[in-house]
Amino acid sequence: MAQFKRTLVTTALPYANGPVHLGHLAGVYLPADIYVRHKRLKGEEVLHIGGSDEHGVPITITAEKEGISPRDVVDRYHRMNLEAFLKCGISFDCYGRTSSELHHETAQEFFLELERKGIFNRRTEKLFYDAEGGRFLSDRYVSGTCPICGSTEASGDQCEQCGTHLSPMELINPKSKISNATPELRDTLHWYFPLGRYQAELERFVNSHEDDWRPNVLNYTRTWLKGGLNDRAITRDLNWGIKVPLGEAEAVGKVLYVWFDAVLGYISFTRQWAEEQGDRDLWRHWWQDPETRLVQFIGKDNVVFHTLMLPAILMAWNEGREDGIYNLADNVPASEFMNFEGRKFSKSRNYAVYLGEFLQKFPADTLRYSIAMNYPENKDTDFSWTDFQNRTNGELADTLGNFIKRSIDFTNSRFGGEVPHSCTVQEWEGLGIDWYATQSQLDQAYEGFHFREAATIAMDIARAANRFLTSAEPWKAIKTDPEAAGRTMALSLNLCHALSIALYPVIPETCDRIHRMLGFKGGVDGLVRKCEPILKTLLEPALPMGHKLSPESEILFRKIEDQEIQPELQKIEQLVREAEAREAGAIEVKMEFKPAIGFDDFQKVDLRVATVRAAEKVKKASKLLKLQVQVGSTQRQVLAGVAEHYSPEEMVGKNVLLVANLAPRTIRGEISEGMLLAVEGEGGRLFMVEPQGAKINGQSVQ
Ligand code: MF3
Ligand code: ZN
Repeated sequence: MAQFKRTLVTTALPYANGPVHLGHLAGVYLPADIYVRHKRLKGEEVLHIGGSDEHGVPITITAEKEGISPRDVVDRYHRMNLEAFLKCGISFDCYGRTSSELHHETAQEFFLELERKGIFNRRTEKLFYDAEGGRFLSDRYVSGTCPICGSTEASGDQCEQCGTHLSPMELINPKSKISNATPELRDTLHWYFPLGRYQAELERFVNSHEDDWRPNVLNYTRTWLKGGLNDRAITRDLNWGIKVPLGEAEAVGKVLYVWFDAVLGYISFTRQWAEEQGDRDLWRHWWQDPETRLVQFIGKDNVVFHTLMLPAILMAWNEGREDGIYNLADNVPASEFMNFEGRKFSKSRNYAVYLGEFLQKFPADTLRYSIAMNYPENKDTDFSWTDFQNRTNGELADTLGNFIKRSIDFTNSRFGGEVPHSCTVQEWEGLGIDWYATQSQLDQAYEGFHFREAATIAMDIARAANRFLTSAEPWKAIKTDPEAAGRTMALSLNLCHALSIALYPVIPETCDRIHRMLGFKGGVDGLVRKCEPILKTLLEPALPMGHKLSPESEILFRKIEDQEIQPELQKIEQLVREAEAREAGAIEVKMEFKPAIGFDDFQKVDLRVATVRAAEKVKKASKLLKLQVQVGSTQRQVLAGVAEHYSPEEMVGKNVLLVANLAPRTIRGEISEGMLLAVEGEGGRLFMVEPQGAKINGQSVQ
């Protein structure tokens, strides 16, 4: 393995389009912060870069909905999220914004360099244009009827009702969300990044990390590689974003696609950091020195942007250069998701606990600890209020907090606030903790991104410490054998010191407080010496006899009462009840019927009984089945969005109802000549409408 001198840590840039919630914290920011703090404690050079992703259509949609400018939206959420992160102790070296001038410059510089090298392809395509609004409509600005399930509220990127990913062209009766007008198709030119050109190089890159990347990261990436990489459009017709920096008429009104610019944010924010340090070139150290290691923390939904897109952009930049060559990621520890009380966080359904709100009620370290213990390293995990309460009260307050307070208070009251004895290494090792194994396992757990394991190992020290103090009973011994009581306290205080180091990356604020109670001036990071790995200090007792404690002790953790989490539990119950009711269809549905039609209109619809003769899945469309149906003596092909409800085998032989005169459409490159009728049941399950009876085939429905 390559030897690295320093580590650049980046965290996915959250959209400045809403507050971050506990799921974000668990997957990305807390693990990164734990990792960074561990590195800092070892005296290693490390930099943590993050910031807000401030472009993209969802932001302009929010702005339009609220009647404010996109700038107002991003200002609001950038500030809110940064504040919440800081309150949570996430220690960024720089938290930038993609709307900043320096970022715009950086992204444009990349675009121009790639344009200069002739890497982009240009293509003219037909896109929906809203003549009334005078602008092109990106996918989410178009709505219409879903060709699969018939929902009239499908969006140009996806149908909410059946979940099918769509393109705006597939919508029946498309409408502009801005003016409600029917959009027209107009030619527009776009720049495409040829991802396929880097296929072989990307494969080599990914394969070189076969042994050190997580299986989920390799899997997602390889699925893409296997499918073959295609050109990706990297420009959009929008007015919010980074302008395409070309003088030509075709570039006017176009911005860079949000993902193309966002992944470059890591670079521009490092440049910003360098400027803040007063050394403009310092960033090169972190990006262009092969001895720097790049580690990118993300959630699983962002994998290919970091394992394929960004690397390909950097490869394109690096092509043919002698210097100024960018490093590619050395690791991309992508998390799985942390659910909340058994369900997925959902911003749109408001099923979430937002970080800022949470921290108004409970201290950051209680949250950091609970979340570290639920880190979704290789499977989805769950956060629950009860688990949070139990861990805070049991592990943090009873086990850790209590031990520290007992040790300090007893020393202050009985031994004049000084470490009353020296401890030998033999005594230290006699505590029943294998210090050598502990420090090396702890280091490996932190270094290997196994944060649950790290927190567990550290808390095990607290458990052992508690057992030791309870069984040594210094409060009894003090009467008969004060010398023995003094030894016990010396060991206990040294255990406090060890705990403040072992747990520091997870609960830094608490560990700093322990440190101060132990009589140190600064925080735990004041112990850092460049050449001495700090965990090695666990190998020997650190506090000498006579070391003075602070005369003040504090209660480290307040217990969480049932009545504090009661309202939270009720809120969840309410949300869950609503969701379940919705799923069961039990909630009162407002019956809204479409406008009346005459019999003549109805008669225009040609409904037929058709028999399914063959069925197969459609590649890359998990919801679609391709069916060959027989209608009387004719045969035709129909695509139906029922693949999640019926297997191909189940479909074959069924008699179904077909809208036979629906104009043919192309979906996913396949022709569909008609639509099958289905009924939506509980939990969104679809049931085909199946006429019973013998030998009905091709009959029209009256
Ligand atoms: N804003 C994106 C999201 O929340 C993540 C962007 S990560 C970056 O999913 F690398 F592109 F910046
Ligand atoms: Zn649909």
